[in-house]
Amino acid sequence: MMTPVPFRPDSKHLRLYRNALGQFATGVTVVTTLTAEGPTGMTANSFTSVSLDPPLVLWCLARGSLRYDLFSNAERYALNVLHSGQYDLAMGFAKDGGHFTQANSFAGEHRVPLLRHTLAAFECALEQVVDAGDHRIIIGRVEQLRYRDGDPLIFQGGHFGTFAG
Ligand SMILES: Cc1cc2nc3c(=O)[nH]c(=O)nc-3n(C[C@H](O)[C@H](O)[C@H](O)COP(=O)(O)O)c2cc1C
Repeated sequence: MMTPVPFRPDSKHLRLYRNALGQFATGVTVVTTLTAEGPTGMTANSFTSVSLDPPLVLWCLARGSLRYDLFSNAERYALNVLHSGQYDLAMGFAKDGGHFTQANSFAGEHRVPLLRHTLAAFECALEQVVDAGDHRIIIGRVEQLRYRDGDPLIFQGGHFGTFAG
């Protein structure tokens, strides 16, 4: 096994820094919210549980996102955890926010759009935002949730995959 070469995460090493962060395998979510123009969504893998009591979860929104204004202060939103067969949704919502159909979505509490066939959906009320570098950390209080067993969609090293076996 190769010994990794140490480096500082400065502007010269941005690509390597991203590569290193990408070694951390995550699930994949689509954050969904209802805007004045209708439902919108965005693929995000920065989802993390923060607190059990009270039930708080976070995700990090890039300041440079064209969808920043839609999500940065959304009072209500949902984090939809994708299952292994939902690669197309992950790619679609990475590109733009408009991949809802009658068949793949429904309205949750407070009319927040939810995706069908996901492994879990956390419906949140905005609790707190923390501006940190080039991202905004968005902390939500989970008001309602649903989940089922199944295989998650995984993201690691810039690639999507599933658990082996
Ligand atoms: C697997 C995956 C995870 C992502 N996670 C995040 C995330 O946590 N936060 C974020 O701001 N963007 C994330 N993105 C990027 C957005 O989904 C989107 O592609 C990006 O904001 C560019 O589009 P926009 O400028 O139209 O928003 C992720 C993309 C992919 C494919």
